[in-house]
This record gives sequence, structure tokens and C-alpha cells, in this order.
Amino acid sequence: QVFNDPQELTLHAAHEISDLINKNNKLKKKTVLCLPTGSTPIGVYRELVRQHIDEGVDWSNVVTFNLDEYYPMDPLSKHSYRHYMQSKLFSHINIKEKNIHIPDGTIPLKSVDKFCEQYEQAIIEEGGIDLALLGIGRSGHIGFNEPGSSSKTITRRIVLDEITRKDAARSFYGIVNVPKSAITMGIKTILDCKRIILMSHGESKATVMKKCLEGEITPHVPATFLRLHHETSFFLDKASAAEL
Ligand code: GLP
Repeated sequence: QVFNDPQELTLHAAHEISDLINKNNKLKKKTVLCLPTGSTPIGVYRELVRQHIDEGVDWSNVVTFNLDEYYPMDPLSKHSYRHYMQSKLFSHINIKEKNIHIPDGTIPLKSVDKFCEQYEQAIIEEGGIDLALLGIGRSGHIGFNEPGSSSKTITRRIVLDEITRKDAARSFYGIVNVPKSAITMGIKTILDCKRIILMSHGESKATVMKKCLEGEITPHVPATFLRLHHETSFFLDKASAAEL
């Protein structure tokens, strides 16, 4: 689905999320979301905060799982995805702290595998994820599933691609400060979500969106696996759809 501009795109995505929350609240059902970071979803979070404040969208029965976190990473660092989520969304809505799940970048290396197993288990115990919102990296990654990630991957530690570290360098004040690895949900974890929205805006994503939508389905471009999922929508603005 191609939107005229990023604003139209983000409003559309935000409305789908709040409609789902409102619908489930009426049925007294919880809503389980998978959430991304990066610049792409910032407008969505802004709109969700506005809807909470102005329209009373109630997050008390919403459970969230974030896609990924740098490793190692102190949650209090301004570079952490924990800090990002807190400042962009969580501190402005009435979500319960116990319902927030973000991979822990402080886990000792020897315990990372166990942590990842528990992350997967927690998703299963919540009954699976109703809706996943995703961005896309220029390497073709979703979450931090870098090129080479198969469709069977689950939550794990992964070494970051050089393109990804280069793109993150500006906010870390230099590539040397960008962590070399991350903990990410896997492709299988994502494909198990009931509904998926991938958002892409800006001309810098035009090449990867062409590969994602028109190229071969391959671990070299992990986002292509989303085409195997029947409830996935790709929301693009005109600039990122320019090469289609
Ligand atoms: C990071 C995140 C991804 C995100 C990507 C794109 O690598 N781990 O989940 O999709 O950045 O970021 P942006 O939206 O800033 O282009």
C-alpha cells in the first residue's frame, strides 16, 4: 500500500493499532503487540500517545514485546531501545510495567541463550502476538535479523551487519561506539505473529524495498520472508516505493 507521505502512512498504522486495542478492550481481551524502534515508527508512537491523551485509548490490558536491543547495552543509556521506548511511548501511556518486554542488553554472555529461550516462552505464555509493527534496515533486516538469517530463526544474539552499524553511527557519535551485536526476535518469531505491518518511508529505503517486494525470497534479504505470511501489509510512502 503506497501512501502520499510518511504522515499519512503513520496515521494509518497508528489507527490500526488503536482500533485493535479498542476492539479487544471491549471484548475484555488483552492485546499483544510486537514493537520496533528506529526513526520510522516515531510518528506512530506520537499519534498513539495523542490518541491515549485525547481519545482515552486504554493501554492497561496491552502487552508489548520489543523486537530487539543492542548487546551489550545498559537500559539507562540514551542509546538503548529501552530508553527509546520509554521516552517515545511508554512513559506517556497507561501501560503496566509488568506488561513491557524488551530484550535485556545487560545479561552476561553465558546466560544470553537462556534469556532468549525465556523471551520466546513469554510470548507463547501471552498467547502469541496479535500485531507486529516493523521497520526495515537498508541491509534488508527486520528486527536485527541480518542477511543470512533463515526463516526458522528464533530470538537470539546476532552480530550486526556493517551497513546497520554505519546507519547507527550518527546517533552513537561514531561507528566505534556502535555495539557489535544485538539480541533480536527471529524471523520465525516474527512470522508467528498473527498480523504484520512493515513500514518504510524515505528514498534511502527505495532499493531495499524493491528487493523486499520484487526480489527472490532469500535469507540474503530477510524481509523477503514476510511475503510468505498472508496477513502482512507493506506500508510505503511514495519515495520508498520509487523503484518498484
Ligand atoms: C534498527 C532496528 C530495526 C529498524 C531499523 C530501521 O536497525 N533494529 O528494527 O527497522 O533500525 O531504522 P529506521 O527506521 O531508523 O530506518
